[in-house]
Amino acid sequence: MKNILVVGGAGYIGSHTVKMLRAQGYSPVVYDNLSKGHRQAVEEVPFEEGDLGDKARLAEVFAKHHIEAVMHFAAFIEVGESVKEPSKYYHNNVAKVLNLLDTMKENGIKYFVFSSTAATFGEPVQPKINETHPQQPINPYGNSKLMVEKMLEDFDQAYGLKSVALRYFNASGADDSGLIGESHSPETHLIPLVLQAAAGKRPSIKVFGSDYPTPDGTCVRDYVHVNDLARAHILALEKMEKENKSLRYNLGSGSGFSVAELIKEAKEITGIDFKVEYEERRAGDPAVLVADPAKAQAELGWTPQYNLKQIIATAWNWEKNRRF
Ligand code: UFG
Repeated sequence: MKNILVVGGAGYIGSHTVKMLRAQGYSPVVYDNLSKGHRQAVEEVPFEEGDLGDKARLAEVFAKHHIEAVMHFAAFIEVGESVKEPSKYYHNNVAKVLNLLDTMKENGIKYFVFSSTAATFGEPVQPKINETHPQQPINPYGNSKLMVEKMLEDFDQAYGLKSVALRYFNASGADDSGLIGESHSPETHLIPLVLQAAAGKRPSIKVFGSDYPTPDGTCVRDYVHVNDLARAHILALEKMEKENKSLRYNLGSGSGFSVAELIKEAKEITGIDFKVEYEERRAGDPAVLVADPAKAQAELGWTPQYNLKQIIATAWNWEKNRRF
């Protein structure tokens, strides 16, 4: 099965996965409405502009490219925005995905890889989050992703649609080539903001909260390189097809780093002593979020190949010479 429709393939994680799919002999086709994605991120790949809500367009693209499986990356991802504008999140991240799944069903496409998130778990009840951890999201973004996970269980049971749901922890870093990388507008993620401070594109980095119950008072996160995520997508796709079974994995390194530790690493890697300002906590941030990646390791043979230094170094390489 080689013809993969990558919905949202012009975005950050999508474009890195498209590059890896090609390198591994797949024929990805990108489907993207370019509301957030970048055409330059997928210049060498068949590209179909279209919206997830457009069933006729999806059906046309499925037929034209003999699509056999769909990877879905096109979602809104900002927790804070989701609290202010839940309707936007439920439309895009839930209703339009239902539309996509219905169109797949009508066209006999049986395999789906879904970008889920650590945000489906809510507040951690144990130090490392494994796949049996309760899923109790604390914001509309997490709710929207969990709703799709539930829909996928029901679609498997009723229609035999097999799916992989991958719960990413903190996706970060950039491709080693420096040709693609993270580019959100507005940017809200820590690593690109830190590196923009280092590059002098921002006056400082603001640290949200220094009174958390963590060793240095700043939030602890599990950073996982975007190419490690991309590799997990392909491994999981292959296992799903081979075993004809739906799968769920938490994707992180299993190690947590605090915001202060990350800033220290970034100063060392860039050699620039940029300004750091301590601010109030940001609403909705759990103190610690770290994955237990044992299941992905055991079942997919997946272990992250990039450590935090390499994540920051590749992101810095991108930040200095970014094309979009
Ligand atoms: N942070 C700062 N200053 C900033 C930006 C972030 O101190 O300018 C802190 C945050 O408070 C948090 C940490 O850096 O403690 C990481 O923040 P990010 O925004 O980079 O990432 P999140 O952990 O908030 O979000 C990630 C994904 C989301 C997903 C969430 C799941 O990017 O899409 O994990 O909880 F929803």
